[in-house]
Amino acid sequence: MLKYIEETAEYLEEKGFKSPEIGIILGTGLGQLLNHIEILKEVSYNHIPNFPTATVEFHKGKLIYGNLEGKKVIVMQGRFHLYEGYTLQDVTFPVRIMEKLGIKTLLVSNAAGAINLNFKKGELMLIDDHINLQGSSPLAFKGVSLLGERFTDMSAPYDKKLNNTFESIAKTHNITLHKGVYASVVGPQLETRAEYRMLKIIGADAVGMSTVPEIIVANHLNLKVAAVSVLTDECDPDNLEPVNIDDIIANAAKAEPNMITLFKELINSL
Ligand code: HPA
Repeated sequence: MLKYIEETAEYLEEKGFKSPEIGIILGTGLGQLLNHIEILKEVSYNHIPNFPTATVEFHKGKLIYGNLEGKKVIVMQGRFHLYEGYTLQDVTFPVRIMEKLGIKTLLVSNAAGAINLNFKKGELMLIDDHINLQGSSPLAFKGVSLLGERFTDMSAPYDKKLNNTFESIAKTHNITLHKGVYASVVGPQLETRAEYRMLKIIGADAVGMSTVPEIIVANHLNLKVAAVSVLTDECDPDNLEPVNIDDIIANAAKAEPNMITLFKELINSL
């Protein structure tokens, strides 16, 4: 893997992706952040050597480099999911590349279902901790110790200082920002009522199909990380309605301006 990482990073450096400070993974509900970035370079994922091969629906995935709030950022427009058939190493390869290019901080967004019923759809949740329910680890491969500590510490995977800053920005701007535990499942099917009950019992406040692999690898690489979920549906097992993907996307869009404020102000503060 080391050889692949070097080759891919070299390609991007030649393309002008020079010394980014911050990496951003744009999930559902943060795409419009791109309108705030002075874009200097962009490359489609399918042109980047060693990047996971794009699926049909994923042809518009792009890596973007530019200025945001006076900082050099590298942005993943679109991410890879386990449910698309990629391996956990595929899903997290871009994080290793961003680190190789120089980022010290990784900011992540995603869409998630609210397990904690005090949280409402359209609101945001700062991820304070997580539960990995994806059945494996992105660090479970031969040679992982050549890239970092195999037995990566997970006592505080989300940076306390970044989280405190997010919370104070939310307060200043009157944005509801809950804090809680994100559980990652494989998907792509949504959960059953029994699964939502289980998730609540084990301590999850939100559930989604991404983010945890990227966070584990970011910790493997000693990056500072923070992540925010936009809550797109309320997972009440006693009143569960059939899933409506259009509704989920609409709720994500509703929260987008708040998400953009949080990310921009946080980057400004760094
Ligand atoms: N479950 C899993 N992933 C999700 C959900 C959900 O309810 N909502 C948005 N992503």
